[in-house]
Amino acid sequence: MSTLERLGLSLLHRLDPERAHGLSLLALRTGLAPLPGPVDLPRLHTTLAGMPLLNPVGLAAGYDKNAEAVAPLSRAGFGFIEVGAATPLPQPGNEKPRLFRLTEDRAAINRFGFNNQGMEAIGTRLAARTPGPVPVGLNLGANKTAQNRAADFATVLAHCGPHVDFATVNVSSPNTERLRDLQGRAALAELLRQVMEARATLPRPIPVFLKIAPDLTRADLEDIVEVALSTRISGIITTNTTISREGLKSVNRDQAGGLSGAPLFEKSTRVLAQLSQLTHGLLPLIGVGGVSTAEQAYQKIRAGASAVQLYTAMVYGGLSIIPEIARGLDTLLARDGYASVSLAVGTGRGDWL
Ligand code: FNR
Repeated sequence: MSTLERLGLSLLHRLDPERAHGLSLLALRTGLAPLPGPVDLPRLHTTLAGMPLLNPVGLAAGYDKNAEAVAPLSRAGFGFIEVGAATPLPQPGNEKPRLFRLTEDRAAINRFGFNNQGMEAIGTRLAARTPGPVPVGLNLGANKTAQNRAADFATVLAHCGPHVDFATVNVSSPNTERLRDLQGRAALAELLRQVMEARATLPRPIPVFLKIAPDLTRADLEDIVEVALSTRISGIITTNTTISREGLKSVNRDQAGGLSGAPLFEKSTRVLAQLSQLTHGLLPLIGVGGVSTAEQAYQKIRAGASAVQLYTAMVYGGLSIIPEIARGLDTLLARDGYASVSLAVGTGRGDWL
């Protein structure tokens, strides 16, 4: 980390977390934040559900909820980025404060509740972007007050789908009451049927991923895999934040919301390995949760992920961790004799089962 980045982060950490988040986005948009640039190393080149990636380290949903910093984020070293969640109508989200740092635990708790400017504004921004080598996806959400939440996902996909490279059905946020019930077998099958129907109307059939919670049983995962395979979605993002509070030290540990960052690593990686076992390589998996080092990105890949995503590690490590993780991953793959990252996928799954 450069002295400038260290200084910037320490200033941000003195502010209220939501304000700091807004300022970090502003710094990106205005060119104040130095951008690491692309990481383009042959061993890291891969494809994810048919999308070519320069490297398998992606930005997780929730950082750029309104797609305001797509261009700079595409030059930050990520191999792919996900923006959103977008809901059909704009909504303010939950009352503030709703984002908390857990510094001693290298973690965060958020209960934003899908605050976003809505699909019209977000779709307009996405339509105006210049496509480049970094695929951009949109996380789909449902309005809190929607009569038919399932239909909201299809509505946002139909509206914004022409302007993105992939989309994610997010039924795993803990911050919209009863949203996670949509992960149940019958509800999920109906929801994904509607989403895939909307996808069929798009000018090009983009990959559609499902993002799941880490707080699911083996039986839940079996149901999800069955529905995922039968509805022919493109892959599973695993996982969203957890409602568990195990082993935390920070004063903010009892805040309500979803916990992200270091304490989520083991739990989300175990779910990933189970999914990898259940899907028999038929569906690409994206590993998310607590990745902050190259070694952890490598562990997710060896547990069964074709690519990884991160968010909270940036809060503590800044933008420079992105190329650090990607380049470090390249070094680890070379050490173990892998000519391509795709050859390492799932090779260490047994360690997590
Ligand atoms: C998130 N996350 C998230 N996920 C999602 O699918 N839609 C969303 O809108 C959001 N919003 C959001 C806001 C904030 C402040 C955080 C910290 C996280 C979850 C995120 O994409 C990721 O799955 C988890 O944070 C776990 O990864 P990390 O943060 O441990 O790398």
